[in-house]
Amino acid sequence: MPTILITGCSSGFGLETARHFLAQGWSVVATMRSPNPELLPGSDRLTILPLDVTDAESITAAVAAAGEIDVLVNNAGIGWLNAVEGTPMPIVRTIFETNTFGTIAMIQAVLPQFRARRAGVIINVTSSVTLKTHDLLSIYTASKAAVNALTEVMASELAPFGIRAHVVLPGQAPGTAFGSNARERLMQAGGLSAPYAEMAQAVFARLTSGSEKDKTQAEDVAAAIWRVATDPAAPPRLPAGADAVALFNG
Ligand SMILES: NC(=O)c1ccc[n+]([C@@H]2O[C@H](COP(=O)([O-])OP(=O)(O)OC[C@H]3O[C@@H](n4cnc5c(N)ncnc54)[C@H](OP(=O)(O)O)[C@@H]3O)[C@@H](O)[C@H]2O)c1
Repeated sequence: MPTILITGCSSGFGLETARHFLAQGWSVVATMRSPNPELLPGSDRLTILPLDVTDAESITAAVAAAGEIDVLVNNAGIGWLNAVEGTPMPIVRTIFETNTFGTIAMIQAVLPQFRARRAGVIINVTSSVTLKTHDLLSIYTASKAAVNALTEVMASELAPFGIRAHVVLPGQAPGTAFGSNARERLMQAGGLSAPYAEMAQAVFARLTSGSEKDKTQAEDVAAAIWRVATDPAAPPRLPAGADAVALFNG
């Protein structure tokens, strides 16, 4: 059975994707910043490794320990909601270090083995926010749109080596830890920029409106990743979740 390495498996989409591939009989390398074996069912096909995608040594060690893999899923990511003006540059850098540069560093780490075997699939989890403009999500959107662009160009450059590259674009998923983690980051950085308070109220009203079933579930993302991993004819960009699919189809 093939092997998949997934970043950010401590919660949300990454954890669900690890569960899904394990249940389908794949070998799974579930990576986490702080490994917790209790999160996943015990299996001799499961390897849990420490990995922080912003740390070059951590990447080298995890990829070496993982050995031969067939699919890389760059899922680890962090959120941010605030105006450009109200976002301190260290936060901008943190968002890009994880969402964008971490993704690139992981790709660079696995490509030599993919190229040597003339096979491999890279799946980058970006976001449906890149499909439509949302106030106060400029920095986060930019970090994910860069990965969309990277993936599109990379897919062409890697095709001659038999390697596929795709993006999966999840919609809004209130069920994961993503929103609360982003809120905590915002509070630690001093909260929302005051001149944008009214705009923020409208944004929060939109984010909290609508029913959860019309939004994205972690299972939707795991299913989209499964399709991309297993179907050589999968599209280069695949939305995941009812809201993302609706946006994608215009
Ligand atoms: N939830 C949404 O509404 C939504 C919508 C569209 C796209 N996305 C994207 O989907 C992906 C997964 O999000 P989620 O909703 O599942 O959020 P989540 O529950 O917060 O999970 C994010 C995962 O990324 C990990 N992570 C963060 N920084 C990391 C780093 N430097 N190195 C390695 N792992 C790191 C977290 O680990 P720790 O536990 O150590 O923090 C966690 O396992 C992200 O890329 C996110 O941008 C989310």
